[in-house]
Amino acid sequence: ENKGLKDYYKAYFPIGVAVNIRALKGDEAKLIIHEFNSITPENDMKMGPIHPREDFYNWRNADSIVNFAIKHHIRIRGHNLLWHAQAPAWMFKDSTGGQVSKEVLLKRLKDHITAVVTHFKGKIYAWDVVNEAIDDKPDNYLRNSLWYKICGEEFIPKAFEYAHAADPSAALYYNDYNSENESKREKIFKLLKSLVDAGIPINGVGLQGHWKLDNPSPELIREALDRYKSLGLKIQITELDITVRGRNHNAQANADSGLTPALADRQAARYKELFEIFRAYKNVITGVTFWNVSDRYSWLDSRNGGLAGGAAASDQSNPVIIKAYPLLFD
Ligand code: XIL
Repeated sequence: ENKGLKDYYKAYFPIGVAVNIRALKGDEAKLIIHEFNSITPENDMKMGPIHPREDFYNWRNADSIVNFAIKHHIRIRGHNLLWHAQAPAWMFKDSTGGQVSKEVLLKRLKDHITAVVTHFKGKIYAWDVVNEAIDDKPDNYLRNSLWYKICGEEFIPKAFEYAHAADPSAALYYNDYNSENESKREKIFKLLKSLVDAGIPINGVGLQGHWKLDNPSPELIREALDRYKSLGLKIQITELDITVRGRNHNAQANADSGLTPALADRQAARYKELFEIFRAYKNVITGVTFWNVSDRYSWLDSRNGGLAGGAAASDQSNPVIIKAYPLLFD
């Protein structure tokens, strides 16, 4: 029989993939249906794309992805309800163009989360509620985003409460990157612990997993899993990819050197090492999602020195210069 990844991992956890609507047809669709049993919309549920104006929600792309998933018996992770990036400018502005008050911003956040979670109620098994709220700089705690500047820390527990009220059966996650880095890990731990201690409805933590061939080390990953696990939370790897681009690979200076056999071997060994760890933590890991379907398109591909993801990905006049080859499929 012709098994896919999801079948090999049946006894462990769902195997997910991040998609945009271009992946719902042709080769990508076939691959998704065969290999994966969880889907995350790559961009189409984020605040800017789904709520571009105060009085208008753009459900079209997100509904297409959700309908595709339901048709093929694939579960759906929602991503995300609150982020500093891809947030619409109107959200933070009052009618005179000045900065909105805390009261108004929290009211808008409540309206947004309630509308989005309600629209997909019963169809989404897990939501990334708050994305990347912790600062990377060792001396800072929370990221100095507009959310934080206007609301202080309060927007985080509020976001979880609004989401839980709208769909009490969805599992709610805090999601971040570099979450295995010791200093950032301890800040994330502090935030999660404060939420758990206050009885806020949070079920788990997402480790994005935008990782490299050599780092983070297996030890750091295990330490992070143990640390978050000690809070009684579930853990998902939400955005896994392993770029093979070298450290000094700069789009201006280097041509795409391709996925050489040597790099492909190192990447295979790295994926083996990671999945051995994930399997050992199957009681706490409730999902592993790859960020994109195949190396044909990755958000890590770069053009003119920047990332090729998002809108630019469909701009054929601006070709990809360096590919990242971060995924399992060619
Ligand atoms: C990325 C998408 O892949 C791109 O298409 C988009 O231009 C920017 O966002 N962390 C996250 C994801 O939580 O939402 C990001 O997705 C990648 C980093």
